[in-house]
Amino acid sequence: MKAVYALGFVGLTALSARGQAALYAQCGGENWTGATTCVSGAVCTYSSEYYSQCLPAGTATTTTAAAGTTTTTATATSTCGATPPASAGKLQYAGVNIAGFDFGMDTSGDDTASSAYPPLTQYYGSDGAGQMTHFVNDDKYNIFRLPVSWQFLTNNEATGVLNETNFAEYDALVQACLTTGASCIIDIHNYARFNGDIIGQGGPSNEMFADLWSSLATYYATESKIVFGVMNEPHDLPSITIWAATVQAAVTAIRNAGATTQLILLPGDNYTSAETFVSGGSAAALATVTNPDGSFTGLIMDVHKYLDSDNSGTNSACVTNNIDDAWEPLSQWLRCNGRQALNTETGGGDVASCETYMCQQIQYQAENSDVILGYVGWAAGNFATSYVLSETPTESGTTWTDQVLVSTCMAPSVNGYVA
Ligand SMILES: *[C@@H]1O[C@H](CO)[C@@H](O)[C@H](O)[C@H]1NC(C)=O
Ligand SMILES: *[C@@H]1O[C@H](CO)[C@@H](O)[C@H](O)[C@H]1NC(C)=O
Ligand SMILES: *[C@@H]1O[C@H](CO)[C@@H](O)[C@H](O)[C@H]1NC(C)=O
Repeated sequence: MKAVYALGFVGLTALSARGQAALYAQCGGENWTGATTCVSGAVCTYSSEYYSQCLPAGTATTTTAAAGTTTTTATATSTCGATPPASAGKLQYAGVNIAGFDFGMDTSGDDTASSAYPPLTQYYGSDGAGQMTHFVNDDKYNIFRLPVSWQFLTNNEATGVLNETNFAEYDALVQACLTTGASCIIDIHNYARFNGDIIGQGGPSNEMFADLWSSLATYYATESKIVFGVMNEPHDLPSITIWAATVQAAVTAIRNAGATTQLILLPGDNYTSAETFVSGGSAAALATVTNPDGSFTGLIMDVHKYLDSDNSGTNSACVTNNIDDAWEPLSQWLRCNGRQALNTETGGGDVASCETYMCQQIQYQAENSDVILGYVGWAAGNFATSYVLSETPTESGTTWTDQVLVSTCMAPSVNGYVA
C-alpha cells in the first residue's frame, strides 16, 4: 500500500532463450535495444512510438491514425490463453491484510523498529487474533497477510539475524493466524529497500536479504500453511533483471532452509501493479526465477491492484473493475506461460461504486481461477474503523460487525466465489 506514485525508469528485459521476446513482452519502441522479434505464436505489435509488444498472433487489427500513420492495436480476442478451462470458477484463497507490524514503513524503505504497532491485545494493539477468528468463522476467509518491516524483525540491523524479542511478538501474530486454520503470508513490507537503499542495487546485499529469508524459512519450515511473501511493492527499480536475481536469492534461501513445499510470492516492479506486470517487464524477468531443482512449483506471481482513479488505494471512490486493463492481460500471460498469481492487496471505500466494481473484479478473478488464486483485502489489524480502506470489523460483546464492502462483496460467505 503506497501513498503516491513516483515516476521511474523501468528496465525491460524479456528475452527468451532463443533471443526472441516473450509473449506480452516489449519488442520495440524508441531507444529499444532488446529483441525485436517475438516467440512463435506471437507478433510484434506497434502500440506507440515508445512501445511495441508481442501479442498473440491473429489478434491484430490495423487502423489508420489521423496523421496518416499506420497504427496496429490488439483486439481482445486471442488464440493463446484467452479462455479459462471449464474447471475454473472458484478461487482457492480470499483473505485480509492484518496490518500493524509494518506501521511506520515509508515507500523509501525508511523505518525504525519502534514504530511497529503489533495488532495484538497483549502488546496493546487491536485484537488481530480475534479479527482473524471472526473472518474465518463468520466470513469463510482462509488466508491472512501479515505485513512486517525488516527493521522490526532484526531491530534495525540490515542482517538476517532475527531479534528474539521482536520476532517473538511477530510470531505471536503468525501463530494466532495458524491457529485459525488459515494460510498465513509473511510479508516483508519494505518496498525492495532498507532505509532508502535498494536491496541488491546499492543497498543491503542479496546475501543479507537471503539470510533474512533463511532465518524465517528455517523457523517455519514444517508449517505447510505459511506462504512466503518475498517483498511488498518494489518500485522504481533501476533494473528489473537485477531485481529478479534478488528474488532468486530469496527463493533459493527459503527452499534450502527446508521449506520445500510452501508457496512463495514473487514481486515485480511498479508497486507490484497487476496492470503493468506484463507490459513493464516484471513478468518476463520473474519468469526466470526457479526452485533449486529448476522447477516453478509453488512460485506464484504477487500482484496488487486498487480500484481508485490512481491505483493508490487512498481514495474512497472506485472507478474501475480493472478487468480490461489488468486482469485480462495478466490472466492471458499467466495461462500462456503456465503460471499463477495471487492478488495480495486490493480494496476500496464503503461506497456504492466500490461495491459494484469490487464485486465485478472478484467475479472475473473467480472465472479465471485456474491462474488467479485469490485476493487479499487491504486492510484490518490496527487500522481504525474510520480509515478510508478499513476492513477492520467492530467488536461488540461476542459479535463482530464487518465494514460495508466486506459484508456486501468481499467476504467469501457473501460472494460465494471461494472454494
Ligand atoms: C531515448 O533517448 C533519448 C536520448 O537519450 C532521450 O531523450 C529519450 O527520452 C529516450 N526515449 C525514451 C522513450 O526513453
Ligand atoms: C532486541 O530488540 C530489543 C528491542 O525490542 C532490544 O532492547 C534488544 O537489545 C535487542 N536484542 C539484541 C540481542 O540486539
Ligand atoms: C505503474 O502502473 C500504473 C497503473 O497501475 C501506470 O499508470 C503507471 O504508468 C505505471 N508506471 C510505470 C513506471 O510503469
